Amino acid sequence: MAKIKTSYFCQNCGAQSAKWIGKCPACGEWNTYVEEVVQREEVTPTTAWKVGSSTAQVANKPKPIADIRYQEQQRIITQDQELNRVLGGGIVPGSMVLIGGEPGIGKSTLMLQIALSLRGLKVLYVSGEESEQQIKMRAERLMAQTSDCFILTETGTQNIFKQIELVRPQVLIIDSIQTLHSSFIEAGAGSVSQVRECTAELLKFAKESGTPVFLIGHITKEGNLAGPKILEHMVDTVLQFEGDRHMTYRILRTTKNRFGSTSELGIYEMMGSGLREVSNPSEILISQREDAFSGISIGATLEGNRPLLIEVQSLVSPATYGTPQRTSTGFDAKRLNMLLAVLEKRGGYRLGTQDVFLNIAGGLKVEDPALDLAVCASILSSFEDMSIPNTSCFAAEVGLGGEVRAVNRVENRITEAEKLGFTDIYISKYNKKGVDLSKFSINIHAYGRLEEVFSSLFG
Ligand code: TYD
Ligand code: MG
Repeated sequence: MAKIKTSYFCQNCGAQSAKWIGKCPACGEWNTYVEEVVQREEVTPTTAWKVGSSTAQVANKPKPIADIRYQEQQRIITQDQELNRVLGGGIVPGSMVLIGGEPGIGKSTLMLQIALSLRGLKVLYVSGEESEQQIKMRAERLMAQTSDCFILTETGTQNIFKQIELVRPQVLIIDSIQTLHSSFIEAGAGSVSQVRECTAELLKFAKESGTPVFLIGHITKEGNLAGPKILEHMVDTVLQFEGDRHMTYRILRTTKNRFGSTSELGIYEMMGSGLREVSNPSEILISQREDAFSGISIGATLEGNRPLLIEVQSLVSPATYGTPQRTSTGFDAKRLNMLLAVLEKRGGYRLGTQDVFLNIAGGLKVEDPALDLAVCASILSSFEDMSIPNTSCFAAEVGLGGEVRAVNRVENRITEAEKLGFTDIYISKYNKKGVDLSKFSINIHAYGRLEEVFSSLFG
C-alpha cells in the first residue's frame, strides 16, 4: 500500500494539528477537527486516480480565452425524459452527479431503473448497502429489459477501481457514497474525511476517463446532504429526490448544475413496479373536483423552464384559543404572514383574529412569487366563503402596497393554462407591455390592484 501521511484540520478556520482536538485553539469552535490526507507516495500519472486523489499535478499555463477551444460534448440521452430534463438535456460525459434524499424515498430504485434502461451502454452499479440478491429482486420488480448492467457489492474504493479496470463501464453508479471507504484514511465509512476522500478519487476517475458517475447520498435529520458541504462543491450536479413517503409522487429537483439550469423539476409516481414518469404534472397537482369549494385557487407557476398549475388550498376560521395559528405547508410561512398583513392593511379584511391554514396540494414546495395572487385569492375565498370558479387561475406577485406586480415569462404560464382548459387567468396589468395577448383565446384579466381582482372575482 502506498505510504501516506494524514493530519487534522479545523473545518471552520483551517488550522492544522497532528492529533485530534475537541476545541480549536485558533477559532474556539468545538468538534471541527477532521482527518485529511496531506501527502502520498509518488505514483505514475496514468494510474493516479487508482491510488489517490491529490497526486500527479501538471503545471498549467494561462491562455487567452479567445484561444481556448471546446467541443460540444455528446450527452447521453436516457429513456427517462424527467432525468434528461433535470440534468439539462442528458448525461454529460465525465460529469459527477449527486442524488440526495431521505431513506426509503426511492433513490436506489430510480438509479437501478436508469441503469437497466441504458441499453447499449455498459453500466456498473456498485452497492454497499444491499446484496446482489436484493438488487436482483428489485430488478425483477421493475420488469425492465435486461441490459449490459453489472452489479458489484463492494465498499472499498481500491477494489472498485480494480473492477472498473476489468469491466470498463460507460456509466458508474455508487449506492451510496457514505458506505464507501478508502484505505488511505483510517476513519470509518461515512465520516467526513472518508466521504471527501472517496468522492475525490471517484471525481478524478470521472474526469480522466470521461465516465459519468452517479453518487447516491444520504440526507441528515435536518434535511442536508450528510457529509461535508464540500461534497456539494466537488460534484457537477446535485439532485434532490423528495416527496412524502406516504404519498406516491416523487420530485427530482436540481439544486446545482454546471451543465444546465437549476430548479428544473422531474416528477415521478412510485408504483408497484418502479417509478413512472409523470409527463403532465398539472393534471395530478390539481385535484379532480366537480363543484367549486371555497378556499381553493389555482396558481400558474414556473419551476425552472416548466410551467405548472398548482392548487392552493386554504382554510380560514375564527381563532378559538388566544393567538391565531398560521400554518403553511409547501409555501414560505414568512411570505404567508406578509400577504396576510397586506390583506389586512390594504384590503381591510380582519384576518388578525382568524386561524389560517395554507396548503400546496400534491406535497410540492413552491418558491415562485407568481403564486402570491393565488394565495391571496384562496385565503379570501375561504374567509368570505365564496368559491372561485374552477376554470380560473392566477399568475402575479403581490407587493406590500397591495399592488399586483408583473411576473416573468407570463406567456408560458398563459399558454399552459389555456392548454389545460382554463377559461380565465388573472395577471398584472404591467405584464401586458411587450406581450401579444391577442393570440390567446383564454380570457385575460389584467389588474393593477388587489381590490380590483377581488371585486371582479367576488363582486
Ligand atoms: P429505495 O429505492 O430502497 O429507497 P432509498 O434507496 O432511497 O432508500 O425505495 C424503497 C421504497 O420504494 C420501498 O419502501 C418500496 C418502494 N418501492 C415501490 O413502491 N415500488 C417498487 O417497484 C420498488 C422497487 C420499491
Ligand atoms: Mg437505497
